Parts: sequence; structure tokens; C-alpha cells
Amino acid sequence: MTTAEDRNLTWHDHATGRKDLEELNSHRGATVWFTGLSGCGKSTVADYVSRMLHARGVRTAILDGDNVRQGLNSDLGFSPEARTENIRRIGEVAKLFTSFGIVNLLAFISPYSEGRDKARAMQSDGDFVEVFVDVPLAIAEERDPKGLYKKARAGIIPSFTGISAPYEAPEKPEVHLHTDKETPEESAVLVIKKLEEMGIVPGK
Ligand code: ADX
Repeated sequence: MTTAEDRNLTWHDHATGRKDLEELNSHRGATVWFTGLSGCGKSTVADYVSRMLHARGVRTAILDGDNVRQGLNSDLGFSPEARTENIRRIGEVAKLFTSFGIVNLLAFISPYSEGRDKARAMQSDGDFVEVFVDVPLAIAEERDPKGLYKKARAGIIPSFTGISAPYEAPEKPEVHLHTDKETPEESAVLVIKKLEEMGIVPGK
């Protein structure tokens, strides 16, 4: 890739920087990256985390695959290349939100370890919290909240994660949830505890 200099681009540090915004918010900015199969509960738990943090005065933003793919990433499908580009773009968006002092909650299948690791590497140590929303495939398939597993099994949806496309589980996530054994609220509490431990949000 050509450098910014080659492309005549100069980085501009804006007048209100991350530190100013974090001071105003009284908490740090960070990315909370939920990964897991479709139907594992990523968006549900992200919603609980967001509501619970909001009640404490923490500024949050949620970005999820189904929504972002209807706007910013509406040009992308589900080939390995398209998923990689989906995660690259959203990794950049997450980095921006962190720099605005916002606790950004990302809910994307993000099936490839490499893509998640690259998203992590875009940010500083301690700014990226990977949350593995683990559930056995059989349970995600039984839940099938959008009826997509049924369509995937029938061959109507090709390259469906867990059925006809891979999912690479994280090896060392900061938080490992088991949504078949925890309620969404219990899962959310585990995430928030980690954010407190990491000094991202103040304790209650
Ligand atoms: S990712 O693999 O690129 O990270 P992303 O999270 O953005 O996926 O989008 C996943 C959502 O798109 C699913 O929750 C589901 O509703 C929908 N979807 C449509 N086709 C597929 C497919 N082939 N595989 C997985 N999800 C799909």
C-alpha cells in the first residue's frame, strides 16, 4: 500500500481530542467486539450492556451486522473477501468511536480470527475488548430467530456461517460468554465487570 505521504495526505489532530471527550464523559472510549454465530445473542447482550451502561451515564453506540449491512456496507455480500472487507471497515469505524470517547459495542459474526485480530491491532492496548458469545451450533439453529438456519439447510442461503461457511472461535477473548447457560442480563453483567476491571467505565 502507498503511504499517506505518497498520497499527499496529512493527519490533522482536531481541536477537541479523545482526552477532552473522555474527560467530558467521565469514562474512557473503547471497543467491545462481540463475535459468534448468527443467533448466539450478540445483539441481545450488546443491547443489555448498552441499556445498563446508559443508566449509569456511560455514552454507548451499537453497530450490528444486519443494520450496518443495510447502509454503510450495503455493497457487501458474504464471500470470504466481502466479510473481510465488512470487518475491516467496521474496525475502522470502531476505532473512530473509541477516539470520540464512546463505548462502542460491535455485534458482527466476524468469523475469521485474522479479521478480528486486525481490528484489534488498529487500536491501542486496552481499547479493544473481545467478547466471544459462545453457544453450540445446535442451540443457535434451534433458536433460529430469523429463520435463516432453516433456509441455509434447505440450500436457499449459500455460505451460511456454521452450516456451509466457517466460524473460527477466538482463542483468548477478554470475555467468554455462554448464552445457553446465562440469561442475557447475566452475560451483560460479565461484560460490564470486565470493562470496570480494565478501567474503561467506573465501578458502581
Ligand atoms: S460477517 O460474517 O460479515 O461478520 P455480519 O455480522 O455482518 O456477518 O452479518 C450477519 C447477518 O447477516 C446475520 O445475522 C444474518 O442475519 C445475515 N446473513 C445473511 N446471509 C448470511 C450468511 N450467508 N451467513 C451469515 N449471516 C448471513
